[in-house]
Amino acid sequence: MSATREDILQELGLWPQWRRRDAPAAGVSALVSAAESAPAAALPVAGAEPARAAARVTMTTPSAALPLDQRIAAVAAMDWSQLKDSVAACTACPLHTARDKTVFGAGDENADWLFVGDAPGADEDLNGEPFVGQAGRLLDNMLAAMKLRRGQNVYVANVVKCRPPDNRKPEAAEVAQCERYLHRQIEMIRPRLIIALGQVAAVNLLKREAAVSSLRGKIHDYRGIPMIVTYHPAYLLRTLPDKAQAWQDLCFAMETMQGLQLAQAAPI
Ligand code: URA
Ligand code: SF4
Repeated sequence: MSATREDILQELGLWPQWRRRDAPAAGVSALVSAAESAPAAALPVAGAEPARAAARVTMTTPSAALPLDQRIAAVAAMDWSQLKDSVAACTACPLHTARDKTVFGAGDENADWLFVGDAPGADEDLNGEPFVGQAGRLLDNMLAAMKLRRGQNVYVANVVKCRPPDNRKPEAAEVAQCERYLHRQIEMIRPRLIIALGQVAAVNLLKREAAVSSLRGKIHDYRGIPMIVTYHPAYLLRTLPDKAQAWQDLCFAMETMQGLQLAQAAPI
């Protein structure tokens, strides 16, 4: 028996009390102007020859052996297979010592939708896949409620690729070493819309401190790509009342995506 939309909303704890409301119209027009003014040049230039040379060095050199600026240039020039190999062998921060598997990210490499979490947990560390534990099941339900499926026009990744001990937040120095992998993934996927799941993802992508509650309901800009912030599924599992707000955010995201698709289909 397949799940109906009501089943899914019930699973999310959102039905029948939740009623869909229209997202503020200003959101979509703000989004269009954000997309139009997006500086494509803000992304690193992948073809630069020094970066390519650094990439060749990294393929044969332990990642921790290169200074950070050379690692940044190396990663910025990698293709998908180089990037996957580089993450699998990475020892650039102390998180590598306790990991079982690195968690690169997974999904459609040409996806319109990119969902970003913070870091792998125990289940992800064992499996090498993002969001496969309890929080992952909720994420799947959230995707299903949006009529989306992992791997089909959806990519899922984390800010750091190795599990922090005791599921603590990744530290700034760990993020500083790891985030260029995510930046390169985003640069290659070129999603239409990024959904930051929780504060760690939001703050690290936006590069400014703020609470999720103050970042929700707006269209932010990550290097020219529109980004929406919502609560992390693991937080929602602990804080049921905020599920309704998360659903509002997902509706806002769906309407934003529609606006983006329309803006691209009919450029002014
Ligand atoms: N939480 C995350 O942020 N990412 C995962 O992959 C799993 C749980
Ligand atoms: Fe490398 Fe990132 Fe793992 Fe640290 S968390 S070892 S930077 S892949």
